[in-house]
Order: sequence, then structure tokens, then C-alpha cells
Amino acid sequence: MSEFSPNWAKPLVEPDAFRDEQRRLTHVWTFLGLGRDVANDGDWFRASIATRSVFVQRFGQTVRAFENVCAHRSYPLRIEAKGNGPLICGFHHWKYDRDGKVIGIPICNMVYGKQPHEIDRRLRPIELAHCGEMIFGRFPSPEATQSLEEYLGDAFPILAFMTKKIEQPMYFERAIQANWRLNMHLTLDDNHGPSVHPNTLGRHGYIPSMSMRRYFRFGASSGYLFSDDEECFTKLLNGCRDGTYRASHYFVFQLLPDLIVALADADRPFWFCNIMQYSAVAHDRTTFRSWSYPAPFATDSSWFTRVTRPISDLFRRPIYMHYYKRVVVEDITVCERIQEVAHQIDRPPMLCALEERIDWFEASIRELTAGHTK
Ligand code: FES
Repeated sequence: MSEFSPNWAKPLVEPDAFRDEQRRLTHVWTFLGLGRDVANDGDWFRASIATRSVFVQRFGQTVRAFENVCAHRSYPLRIEAKGNGPLICGFHHWKYDRDGKVIGIPICNMVYGKQPHEIDRRLRPIELAHCGEMIFGRFPSPEATQSLEEYLGDAFPILAFMTKKIEQPMYFERAIQANWRLNMHLTLDDNHGPSVHPNTLGRHGYIPSMSMRRYFRFGASSGYLFSDDEECFTKLLNGCRDGTYRASHYFVFQLLPDLIVALADADRPFWFCNIMQYSAVAHDRTTFRSWSYPAPFATDSSWFTRVTRPISDLFRRPIYMHYYKRVVVEDITVCERIQEVAHQIDRPPMLCALEERIDWFEASIRELTAGHTK
């Protein structure tokens, strides 16, 4: 039975339905960025949780995150993607400490009749959790009690191992004129390779034989492993837990709400990890962000191949990114075309066996949004 309701497309076209959906997702663990971007004291980067702007900043040994809205008159504190410096608002120069408490206000005594420390205003804090180099956040709520490790389930040790060493990630960002859920659906669709990617994916563009298709569900999320080994997921999980995993086949995890992590081969034995995110911006707009880097897994390569990799990567990296971006844009184009007719969608899709995980995704989104109403 389909997990889609007849009006599943409402948030794709109706701003109110979209806002309600996003409001209910603010308490779900959401990927914010990489630890390497807050490696030094004062480093910060901007991100978003369910369309709400937030920023992550290092204060000495501590990493904190806050909603990106000044407690004075709501100016965004961080207006660039990343940077370094004290937490001072650009509008009237209110200054905040690591707890988000205001500690400095120009001419405070004159305009408020008291000292800054007597003013009880602070930034709204974001709850943070780490998995390897990945930083996740959510808006706190008494109902949101599940730890990140519990939320990610079996994906947690795999992500922790995949991101333990991220070398010079290649960053790619792109604005999309389509709803974020359409983009997530496309990544869960193993049926479109030959028609959408005939010139880019090569042999990965083939529809996988059913015997190579391994689908797994963990918590709210799911994964696909391209392997004829029925034990491949257990081997991946155990190998990441004890640090012995060797890259051998393509896999991709879709981690709700909007994160995708994949292992792909550039040309074997060279593998890349891709961290991808489709952040909702509006009912018909999404921001795609991605980080690609050489996989930290061991491979069956010769000594010579390993030693010469820093040189060969000078060529491999741009070639890999060229094809990677083309594939991403081909997917985006499909979503933008569906968005153009989204107002005409009045029934659930008819999913096939290679689109099964789209149904799982919709079931999980319904479950995640059912619990939170504020
Ligand atoms: S809005 Fe930030 S200091 Fe006034």
C-alpha cells in the first residue's frame, strides 16, 4: 500500500502547507556542516534547519550554535557563508558571549539606563551533536529526546568512520527551483539512470539487476548497496565499527530529513565520499550543498598506486567533479520540470520495485512531522 496521501504534493505548491511541514521538522537532527570549518577559535559557518538560518561557532575548546537572529531587532548576525571573529551584530553592534548572552551594547547606560549585564537578552541556542567530522543540530524541544546516535542508528558508526578524515573536500553549491522533497525522491529512485544519465553515469547508469539491489532501512532513514553479497550491509557496519572496512561497492544512504552520503568509485581502486544536502528554502526552492573527498577506506591497490595518488589526484579530482556536477544538474533539471506541473498533481505516484525507498521516505517524513506541532 502506498505511503503517499492523495494531497501529498500540497507542500510543493502551497506556502502555508510547506511552512507547517518545515515547522514540524525544526526538532529533527539536521546536518549543519563539517568540523574542519570551525577548527580555529572564532571560526564560524552558517547553515539552516528547516529553512531557519543558524550558525555554528567555535569559542576556544567549545563549539556552539545559535539561531542567526539578533536578540535586539532580529538582524542576522552572520551574513556570509563562513568566517572568523567575535559575535557582534552588524546592525547596532550588540556583542554576545559563548552562551549567547548579550555582554556589550554601545552607549547602553544612556539608551537603556542600565549596564549590558543587567539586560536579560540572549540568542536562541541550537542543540549540537557530532558524528565523525559531521556536525548536526536541532532546535531544542522537551519532546526531542533522542540522541543523534539513536536517531541515525546503524548509520552512525558508518558515517563516523567515513568522515574521520576529510582531506581537502571539493565543495559545490547550487540553487534549485524545485521543492526539496522532489530532490530527495530522485536520489531514492534507482530507475532513472538510463533515461536521465545516459552520457554521464556509464555502467552505473544501468538499471541494477534485482540480485544486486540491497535496500536497508534504519530508523527514519534508508540505504542502497550495489552488491551481490547478501551480507554486505553487516560487513560494512562491522568493518566501520572496528576500522577494517575496505571499499568494494557503491552505496548511498538517505538520512532524513535532507542528507545523503554516498561512496562512489572514480575509477577503481579510487573511491570518493560525497556528502550532499538538499536544504529547503521555500516551497519551490532548495539549496544543494555537497562535499566530495577521497574515501578514507583501505582499497586493494598497489604500493605504487597509493604513493602516486597525490599526483594522480591532481587530474582525477577535477575530472571526478566534472562528471559529478553533470549528474547532479541532470537530476536537478528533472525536479525543476516536475515543479512546473506540481500544481496539477492530485494523486500518489505509482512506484516500482526500484522506487520502493521513496515510499519509505514519505512514511518517515509523515512520522517525523506528526509529533511536533510547534
Ligand atoms: S539588531 Fe542586532 S544589534 Fe540591533
